[in-house]
Amino acid sequence: MTAHGERSRVENRGLVEMGSDHWLDALLGRVPHRPAALATPPAGSGLRPVPGDRGLPFVGMGAHTARYGPAFLLALMRRHGPVSWWRAFGRRIVAVSGPEAVQVVLANRDKAFVSGWPSVIGPWFDGGLLAMDAPRHLADRRLVQAAYGEGAVDGYLRLMAEDLDERLDRWPVGARFELVGAVRELSGQITARAFLGVPYDGVGKRVVDAAEECIRAETALARVRLPGTRWHRAHRARAWLIRHLGEAVPEARARAGEDFLSVLSRVEGFDDRQVALHALFTVIASHDTTTAATLASAYFLGKHPDWRERARAEAAGAPTRDAAAVDRLTTLDLVVRESIRLVSPSPILMRVAARDTEVLGHHIPAGQLVSVCTGVNQLMPELWSRPDRFDPERFEHAEDRGRRLAWAPFGWGGHKCIGMRLGMLKVKATLAALLRRCEWSYPESYEAPWRFTSLPAPRDGLPTVLHRV
Ligand code: HEM
Repeated sequence: MTAHGERSRVENRGLVEMGSDHWLDALLGRVPHRPAALATPPAGSGLRPVPGDRGLPFVGMGAHTARYGPAFLLALMRRHGPVSWWRAFGRRIVAVSGPEAVQVVLANRDKAFVSGWPSVIGPWFDGGLLAMDAPRHLADRRLVQAAYGEGAVDGYLRLMAEDLDERLDRWPVGARFELVGAVRELSGQITARAFLGVPYDGVGKRVVDAAEECIRAETALARVRLPGTRWHRAHRARAWLIRHLGEAVPEARARAGEDFLSVLSRVEGFDDRQVALHALFTVIASHDTTTAATLASAYFLGKHPDWRERARAEAAGAPTRDAAAVDRLTTLDLVVRESIRLVSPSPILMRVAARDTEVLGHHIPAGQLVSVCTGVNQLMPELWSRPDRFDPERFEHAEDRGRRLAWAPFGWGGHKCIGMRLGMLKVKATLAALLRRCEWSYPESYEAPWRFTSLPAPRDGLPTVLHRV
């Protein structure tokens, strides 16, 4: 291929563009946009209505959302600007994209927006920070912060490392297996001891399974508590989790351990139920996000032998249990940052307008669900050179410097991820341990088919063969 051809070839096409190869893409491509305004602004306000698309009657553009994720929202922004709306899953959703619009909503200066997560996913975050608003959110966040101090986080990593090597040793070598399931299971296995102070086998697995039941219910179509439904099972799982964790708190306090539950139980200001609810949300908030980040990074490492070798050489002498040593894995740091730029574990952040308000001169009516599209910013050619390319070096020469909200996979503003350092440590420690033991690669012709129904993961399970190094 010519130098020019090389430059113009779109990489990671499925992440930055809506597809056109599959029959389903052809079908979805034919759905008419049906432009319409969201709501009429109050007379004399000088505000403009939010432009957008109705899509198909009843279903709107829900299938587009699930299939293309941020690429669909990027196209929506191109069509209608940084504040637009579309219909999916039975509701009208406002999408705010681009640094200015995202900043207005996340900065939330006049408290016009509240958390939109409970209304989207259900009651699974209740009692956790992300479901709270000011002033309760600020008060609880100050207390919870004590469990995220540097010393505390170093302790969680030590506990994770106790299980990491032993669990990775059980992964198949020389045989094809699905990395998606394996990484998800591994994340749960190294969570139990670090967050709850219990070994995975036995009650740890039961807690992780019950938390996963709640996570899975986010995508349930039928939200009714009828026996046999996913929604009903998730309610039962949550009731058990709250009871079990509530009972575990006094014991956790007494053992004065290094695990999250034990550390949080010693923070003054919470009763046992509050500790249990914060711990439960922490398990939920950390499990899928770190799974998605680990998967994305493992995928890109598998596609890029140069980065794999560089990361492996650096990981060779770094003890996984030592947070300072994992912090110093700068190559993996670049790789993970670039991987979660392209595949953001949480590419949209949900808010609801608490009252009539405006974003960049567009009228947002009270009660309106708003999707803050940080994942779109991470793909915008206005903010990144060749955003389609996997190029960790862009962080080495600080391409994002001075571009606020160009890179925001951990959110921004009052709800910014409190577990960012721990999340990065967990993902880097997992990848370092894997690189030290194994080699893996994906053919150049293979592009993972990402799906965005819940947190992003390849639809095909990411078939992988490991070889011992
Ligand atoms: C790569 C891993 C992770 C990613 C990409 C991630 C992403 C995020 C994002 C985007 C938010 C903000 C959501 C919003 O504003 O609506 C958030 C909040 C949060 N995250 Fe993370 N997260 C990760 C790992 C973790 C870990 C390991 C923990 C805990 C151990 C954690 C705990 C939390 C909590 C408690 C909040 C709520 C903060 C608040 O509402 O004040 N996260 N995370």
